[in-house]
Amino acid sequence: MKRRDLHRLALSLALSAWAGIAPVQAAGRRPVGPLWQGFPFALGVASGQPRSDSVVLWTRLVFSEADLPQQAQAQTVLCEVFADEALRQPVRDWLVETDARRAHSVHVIATGLQPGRHYWYRFSCGSAQSVVGRTRTSPAEGERVERLRIAQASCQHFEQGYYVAHREMAQRDLDFVLFLGDYIYESSNPKYLVRKHQGVVPRTLEQYRARHAQYKGDADLRACHAAHPWVMTWDDHEVTNDYANDLEPDYSDPAVFLRRRAAAYQAYFEHMPVRIGPEPAAPHQMRIHDRMVWGQLAEVWTLDCRQYRDHQACLDPNRGGARVVVGCDALQDASRSMLGQAQEAWFMQGLLASTRRWKVVGQSTQISSSSLATPLGRSTFNDAWDGYPLGRERLLSGIAQAGLQDVLMLGGDVHMNVAAQLRVKPNDERSPVVASEIVTTSVSSRGMSETLLATIRDNNPDIRHARSDERGYTLVDIRPQGVSATFRATPHPAQTDSALRDQARYEVLAGRAGVQAA
Ligand SMILES: [Fe+2]
Repeated sequence: MKRRDLHRLALSLALSAWAGIAPVQAAGRRPVGPLWQGFPFALGVASGQPRSDSVVLWTRLVFSEADLPQQAQAQTVLCEVFADEALRQPVRDWLVETDARRAHSVHVIATGLQPGRHYWYRFSCGSAQSVVGRTRTSPAEGERVERLRIAQASCQHFEQGYYVAHREMAQRDLDFVLFLGDYIYESSNPKYLVRKHQGVVPRTLEQYRARHAQYKGDADLRACHAAHPWVMTWDDHEVTNDYANDLEPDYSDPAVFLRRRAAAYQAYFEHMPVRIGPEPAAPHQMRIHDRMVWGQLAEVWTLDCRQYRDHQACLDPNRGGARVVVGCDALQDASRSMLGQAQEAWFMQGLLASTRRWKVVGQSTQISSSSLATPLGRSTFNDAWDGYPLGRERLLSGIAQAGLQDVLMLGGDVHMNVAAQLRVKPNDERSPVVASEIVTTSVSSRGMSETLLATIRDNNPDIRHARSDERGYTLVDIRPQGVSATFRATPHPAQTDSALRDQARYEVLAGRAGVQAA
């Protein structure tokens, strides 16, 4: 590197607030670096959070036994962006310095790109070069766009199935993958094992890093990251099952849990193509909720349903976390929120101000009700939106009052495919349908029994489709006149050679809230 480049690199690193990584324009040649014995780009490449002029490009260096002496050192990585698949038309390149404090992860905010087009990218360090990834920018904000194709996915327990869903998504013509949480799982269920987690249940930064690295060891997952930009939010298992804000099910000291949460968020950032990492002064906080636009066709939000929420209502005093509650008065506390006040206000303001046709909301769980009638009153699962009924009502009545018709809620978490009507008063025919919901099944995690699900369907007429026995993803095809959602599915567990098929298809017509079977 030239002295001037070194100076610019040092300056931009010093200016970078949160990660210590800042791209600088490369000198147009490969940086000097190690002669690698292993392959440092074994975790692949990824891109995400597309804008009309930029996208995040990600990789992380890993060190084989023979390369361990390099791990203590800072490494300089070259990131190159091309306009063509043959890599003959270079667009821009960046030199990025990274080190062990961020697990040698690299995040380049690739700016200066053209709207609505594909780009190809790769990373180099010393003697090694990564695979080539493909990404794309969103269309210009004012452009009339005819189509947005999203693959909606969530819940990929490594031990419970193979990632055939990712293999298929990687082959499809998509604009982006919308991943709605449970990217890693911290825990195991010995009843459902097709392959095994390495190491203990993660609690420390090193342990979370190892878990993320194991997941990225899956070739189908890497292929899906390399093929499309991803737009992401998280759910609970990225940290621990059923956590809510600063509370985890074993009621550990919140200060102790927030340190664990900080480790989990840091490892998440280090492994994902996201723009913002943990806040330097408060590393247990990390903003993941986001908003993007897709020309004049759609506005897309991703929401965080874990970090800011109130604790679940009517918790078991001996063992916290999710449970089914009956006669829980706290559910009627209007101050309780799934999103936290600041995020809720930000989201509602944006939603009501949006001028785009489709308002697409990616959030981690199910909004429609799945509660059951019992002699003692409705029994309610307190971890999903059912456990925050007045927060849900605020959201849906806000949509109703504004007269919005084209709000599409996309969720995950519950390991089943759901198509549902959303009313201000769930399941009340007198309450008009104000929005539409599509929940995608899990990529691999096991679903609930079909017997229980049949009871839930019987108790909740707003649920028009629900199946928990199959794994896969959902293809959401958005056009000005309507949206079609196709559940792509295979029986549990997803095997290496499984093929996906259409389980069902639902449509939402422009100007008319609600799902209907296609
Ligand atoms: Fe899950």
